[in-house]
Amino acid sequence: MTIQIITIDGPSGSGKGTLAAKIANHYQFHLLDSGALYRLLGLSLQQKNLLESLENEDVLKQCVTIATNLDIVFKSKGDGIIILLDGKDVTQIIRTEQIGECASKVAAIPVLRAALLERQRAFAQAPGLVADGRDMATTIFPEAQVKIYLTASAESRAERRVKQLQGMGLDVKINDILANIQARDKRDMERTVAPLKPADDAYIIDSSNLNIDEVFKLMTDYADAHLAK
Ligand code: DC
Repeated sequence: MTIQIITIDGPSGSGKGTLAAKIANHYQFHLLDSGALYRLLGLSLQQKNLLESLENEDVLKQCVTIATNLDIVFKSKGDGIIILLDGKDVTQIIRTEQIGECASKVAAIPVLRAALLERQRAFAQAPGLVADGRDMATTIFPEAQVKIYLTASAESRAERRVKQLQGMGLDVKINDILANIQARDKRDMERTVAPLKPADDAYIIDSSNLNIDEVFKLMTDYADAHLAK
């Protein structure tokens, strides 16, 4: 049986995470939040005080070993997912801006990306997978039947992110978030390995002026037409 794969790539705050979860639920497919893996690795390396010394070859080797052996569990709870790192619940902390920055640093290093490759591919299980990230279509699952690139203006992404973080009880300022988003976009798009960009055969959706239901409809109409029958 062919495993059906839907990839959803795009910059931070484009709504990928929410949409990927809804689409996975709609088709009853598995879900890979690849950004969470980079965030978990960023958190783990930060806890071990290794992030500032990645240019040191021995430290980097140690980090590759850590990346390959990360002890991660994704557990369903109600409508959501709980993420454990080394047995501890890190669901909330990995979503902070600070850990987002750590993830972005880690994600720019080719050997660390390579160390997470097989772990990501292992999520492709029957009947199918929705994979959300930056390089799902270009690098991890080039064979995907459905490739979607979801983008939005930096300003509208910053507004959404502020609402999301405020909903988590965090005190944040729009200008700080916008600056973070612009810096992370630049780093994600300009890195030499697996930069953020649409696959040649991706369906591109700009969600700046669309709500979640409108984007969901565009995505499912497209997927219905392209998934193997
Ligand atoms: O989607 P996110 O904000 O949780 O991702 C966190 C960081 O990880 C972000 O800087 C981009 C990086 N990332 C990546 O390089 N490749 C992926 N497939 C997913 C995320």
